[in-house]
Amino acid sequence: MRSEGYGNWPERSISVSPRWGWGPSASGKMIIAIDGPSGAGKGTVAKAVAASLGFRHVDSGAMYRAVGWKALREGVALEDEDAVARLAERSTIVVTSDLVTIDAADVTRDIRTPAIDRAAASVARLPAVRAVLVRQQRQLGQGGRIVMEGRDIGTVVFPNADVKIYLDAAPEERARRRASDPAHSGGPAAVSDVATLLTERDRIDRTRAASPLYAAPDAVVVDTTGRSIDEVVARVLGIVNSQVSRLNSQD
Ligand code: C5P
Repeated sequence: MRSEGYGNWPERSISVSPRWGWGPSASGKMIIAIDGPSGAGKGTVAKAVAASLGFRHVDSGAMYRAVGWKALREGVALEDEDAVARLAERSTIVVTSDLVTIDAADVTRDIRTPAIDRAAASVARLPAVRAVLVRQQRQLGQGGRIVMEGRDIGTVVFPNADVKIYLDAAPEERARRRASDPAHSGGPAAVSDVATLLTERDRIDRTRAASPLYAAPDAVVVDTTGRSIDEVVARVLGIVNSQVSRLNSQD
């Protein structure tokens, strides 16, 4: 794992332009994996990085949320591994930058509630459910040109991703961001309440047996504490640029 200091972040204007060519090598089907805990800024940053590169953006967490949403709706017990895995298997989940559907039902807003936070974390602990969703995530990555965010993208889903970023931030800042995130409904939330829930969810994500959250050894860790979105996006694009140059120099 490589840690990044704060200094000398490149400007937002940095571009990963086709002048490098995406090459016939790994870069021709470039996959950018962005992992990290809740509230580290993955969603915003992954979306902006994908838009800047003209890549597809996939929020893998939304897939776990959609499965949790449907399990609750159908009255399937969240700890019934086989039943939840079967439900995931027979569902069609579509995730774009702006829309999440499961079996054509638009759940974009409904999956961002405290109840679905818990349901998603529950179903994400089940290896059989993960197997179904990881298979779908790998299919989405087949053509490359994708930025996928989650908890295990650089460690399990795409261990050979061209670029691996691990976004992190101080727990208080993550709680503040989550509490003020309009996409995350459930009414106004006190930062201290959100902090308690985030800490618990982090604990589950980091200690679960199946694909726990950790930074891949070859991920670049970017701490977003006190950094603006633009700064972090520029930093990530800088890392992508360096990696593309490195890959091309190996050709
Ligand atoms: O990122 P988000 O908070 O939307 O993810 C919802 C839940 O899905 C998280 O609690 C996490 O446990 C799980 N998840 C996962 N693996 C991923 C993405 C999300 O286990 N790749």
